[in-house]
Amino acid sequence: MIEESGRQSRRYGAAARSATCRRSVIGISGALTAVLTAMQLAAMPVGTALARHSLGSGSVWDSVFTLAQAGRGEVTYSATCASCHGDSLAGINDAPALTGPDFHKTWDGNALSSLFNRISNDMPSDNPGSLAGPQVAELVAFLLRYNGYPAGKVELAAAAESLSMIRFLPKP
Ligand code: HEC
Repeated sequence: MIEESGRQSRRYGAAARSATCRRSVIGISGALTAVLTAMQLAAMPVGTALARHSLGSGSVWDSVFTLAQAGRGEVTYSATCASCHGDSLAGINDAPALTGPDFHKTWDGNALSSLFNRISNDMPSDNPGSLAGPQVAELVAFLLRYNGYPAGKVELAAAAESLSMIRFLPKP
């Protein structure tokens, strides 16, 4: 996106540059709207989950990963994560459960990008930062599948920014 606008400005000069400026202003107001919407959503009681879901911002109920992607994530999970978090994701000692009520308590209301970043930056805790973006996306897809969210036809993107508009929400 940034690369593309850069290329355009070089090619078309000032006109393209001002178009780029307009685009980024729209981008910022879009982001502000998203923040406000998130704040409004957070203030709503759980019973309005359906209304929240239909407000336009994406959620984990919108089939945001593929089964194949989750399958690859499962392979990485078994090799890299299960020793601490357990084969059934129930958690062992200090390593918390990645499923069940604790998982929902931690993540509901948060953007999927926070889970992506948490794994990308901190996990596996004995070798943090060792996973490539696509592997992290596969792990997130696996966690979503394991926690009962629906798979779909389009893979989850391997970049935190793309995941910031997808929220964990209670079942609509
Ligand atoms: C060596 C043990 C160990 C390994 C391996 C490990 N984790 Fe963790 N994980 C932890 C511990 C301990 C915590 C809690 C403390 C912390 O955040 O460092 C944690 C926290 C987390 C959290 C935050 C959970 C929450 O609800 O707050 C996530 C998500 C997570 N791990 C995912 C993973 C994934 C995915 C992998 C495999 C790539 C992985 N972990 C590998 C020990 C481990």
